[in-house]
Amino acid sequence: MALSSLFFFLFFLSSALWVSSASSVSDPTVKTFIVQVHPDAVKPSVFPTQAHWYASSLSSSSAADRILHTYSTVFRGFSARLSPSEADSLRALPHVAALIPEQVRHVHTTRSPEFLGLKSTDSAGLLKESDFGSDLVIGVIDTGIWPERQSFNDKEIGPVPPKWKGECVAGDNFPSTSCNRKLIGARFFCAGYEATNGRMNQSTEFRSPRDSDGHGTHTASIAAGRYVFPASTLGYARGVASGMAPKARLAAYKVCWNSGCYDSDILAAFDAAVADGVDVISLSVGGVVTPYYLDSIAIGAYGAVESGVFVSASAGNGGPGGLTVTNIAPWVTTVGAGTIDRDFPADVKLGKGRIVSGVSIYGGPGLTPGRMYPLIYAGSEGGDGYSASLCLDGSLDPSLVKGKIVVCDRGINSRAAKGEVVKKAGGIGMILANGVFDGEGLVADCHVLPAASVGAVGGDEIRKYIEAARKSKSLPTATIIFKGTRVGVRPAPVVASFSARGPNPVSPEIIKPDVIAPGLNILAAWPDNVGPSGIPSDKRKTEFNILSGTSMACPHVSGLAALLKAAHPEWSPAAIRSALMTTAYTVDNRGENMLDESSGNTSTVMDYGAGHVHPQKAIDPGLIYDLTTYDYIDFLCNSNYTTNNIRVVTRKKADCSGAKRAGHTGNLNYPSLSVTFQQYGIKHKLSSHFIRTVTNVGEANSVYKVSVRPPSGVKVMVEPEKLVFRRVGQRLNFLVRVQSHEVKLSPGSSSMRTGSIIWSDGKHTVTSPLVVTMQQPL
Ligand SMILES: *[C@@H]1O[C@H](CO)[C@@H](O)[C@H](O)[C@H]1NC(C)=O
Ligand SMILES: *[C@@H]1O[C@H](CO)[C@@H](O)[C@H](O)[C@H]1NC(C)=O
Ligand SMILES: *[C@@H]1O[C@H](CO)[C@@H](O)[C@H](O)[C@H]1NC(C)=O
Repeated sequence: MALSSLFFFLFFLSSALWVSSASSVSDPTVKTFIVQVHPDAVKPSVFPTQAHWYASSLSSSSAADRILHTYSTVFRGFSARLSPSEADSLRALPHVAALIPEQVRHVHTTRSPEFLGLKSTDSAGLLKESDFGSDLVIGVIDTGIWPERQSFNDKEIGPVPPKWKGECVAGDNFPSTSCNRKLIGARFFCAGYEATNGRMNQSTEFRSPRDSDGHGTHTASIAAGRYVFPASTLGYARGVASGMAPKARLAAYKVCWNSGCYDSDILAAFDAAVADGVDVISLSVGGVVTPYYLDSIAIGAYGAVESGVFVSASAGNGGPGGLTVTNIAPWVTTVGAGTIDRDFPADVKLGKGRIVSGVSIYGGPGLTPGRMYPLIYAGSEGGDGYSASLCLDGSLDPSLVKGKIVVCDRGINSRAAKGEVVKKAGGIGMILANGVFDGEGLVADCHVLPAASVGAVGGDEIRKYIEAARKSKSLPTATIIFKGTRVGVRPAPVVASFSARGPNPVSPEIIKPDVIAPGLNILAAWPDNVGPSGIPSDKRKTEFNILSGTSMACPHVSGLAALLKAAHPEWSPAAIRSALMTTAYTVDNRGENMLDESSGNTSTVMDYGAGHVHPQKAIDPGLIYDLTTYDYIDFLCNSNYTTNNIRVVTRKKADCSGAKRAGHTGNLNYPSLSVTFQQYGIKHKLSSHFIRTVTNVGEANSVYKVSVRPPSGVKVMVEPEKLVFRRVGQRLNFLVRVQSHEVKLSPGSSSMRTGSIIWSDGKHTVTSPLVVTMQQPL
């Protein structure tokens, strides 16, 4: 009797819980918060676990079920759905240090319609198939993984490293035997996602580490895919596919679902990855920029870096405008995207004989060679201009479009989705034309019908040709000539149009992105259940696919970081980043300054940071600019964050008195230097200084001499001008004084000048960009 009433009670309680969590999905005032528990608060012994204690902070009886995740490695606390009043009462509890509202993030491919597009890489060959890097584990926080891909085979790979504590978590269509000696761990985190959206639809996504999107499989194989030959997608980019670190191990942490990637899940992935023992975390995901103490990616990354884990993150695809860079915390390595010297040309031939060049990776049945097809612009033509032809679902009239090549404008719906709309309406081909905002940046997509993308100038020519034909009552015609894969393209690299740019919106003293890496038209592994265009009706299967985005650039750096860590096990995450930055290059394969794809103009430090990564040189940088967590704490102090806010990031009580003595944020021992001068009416000296410390990681008894390329109109002095290192590991300081004259600027405007500081011992060249920005207050 007693037993059955207890049973009844439990049942009742758990169904009450169910009702409460279900209603919290529909109640818009209930939101997910990440709750930090004071680093020095001690769990009262009445609670058997941290989770019980955390649940006790929530008032209702359903407390335990409302905890989404508990965190203990990179963060101390938990996440839960809270009403405004519950959030307030939690804040008042003595052991609660902070409440961080959740953000929803998204992956950084250009597949998302809001982004512009671009190109690819073959980074094979750096260290061949030696065992190099096989002890290193790269954790990829993304959309999961398709474990059966050849890129993840474990032939000739040794046993799992003994330090590994991770797991292969089973779920939908993903038995725990899905992992092997290459893919050594897989987990999924969906509590935050489901708390907001309700239980996921398991017929459209896998409630497991299996990838139902393709993005995570692609990024994981860029970082550490095995050599696979022949690799290609729809016949394009034929050759050997390989990740940057082909022998490194992979662990997949799935946090991104159909409606995005939720912070509470991302933080849980960081927590698990660091506890599992990864060496590198690769994160091709981002959202809006917030102060570091409200940014769970910055918080998770700090905990990872403190444990010696290198974190690389994509800069975002919000370019080419300024101030668009994301994932900017100074302990994260922020990666923008460049092109490679391979592209996929396609010519649009117009009836009057003109050729407009574009790009395409269409690989199905083609247009009849030599035949011209009627051409139509699907916006309303004529009048004072064109109304856009967006080729949205249902917007095309089959009677007008049938048998024709349709010109669609970039924007709103995804590039591949436009092709699907044209095909459904009976169109025979598509020309995807950039508008002024898109400029000349082009992304090659695996379209479902013969299609080519053209830039804004070419797009205008085609639109004008159609309009002229309409006025003269003649029939506009065109065809598309696919030219396959072209290699040896010059110039390359070029900063990809979409790649997000500086200045850094939170800490202008820290130049972001740090570096760029290949991110346009990248060939990498792809799941079976998603067609290469990514749209649901596309039933084609490809082992590989070509994607573009800073999402694709980031895992190049993650793989490279694993190789550097294998070569230099003692290097900190900051040392690895320093090696990548000080050896990066800023000239293209013509020997000229790298260009910006969006404008064709020379690009700047705000576009590429220190430059494009140079794997071979990064292995032997000579000197490094190292950093510890104490330096980051000083930096946060000098950024005027309160000690409470600093504690949210660092999980420690910060003593800022020492940091204030150390000076200013520009003194963070970063491999790049940036200062902003505010010009207030009165003539006065504009000067500042930077203190830097370099560590000799080259040879003993080396002498480095400085050379300075000052920004125009700026006087730069370095003291001393010579650094004499007796031994390896020795650290020496130098001081950089910067003095500028006032420049004529209109109120509210600014002017940026760039230069560099270069240390050389005759063998190594250690380069740091130096940026001086003059601002005229309003
Ligand atoms: C799940 O998705 C499938 C396929 O789109 C759909 O048919 C089904 O109705 C969905 N189920 C729910 C519960 O939404
Ligand atoms: C490119 O350079 C030209 C000439 O210096 C300049 O007029 C133009 O504004 C630049 N375009 C962009 C987008 O910066
Ligand atoms: C921090 O505050 C000090 C004193 O008010 C000020 O001089 C300094 O510029 C501030 N630093 C930042 C990064 O805002």
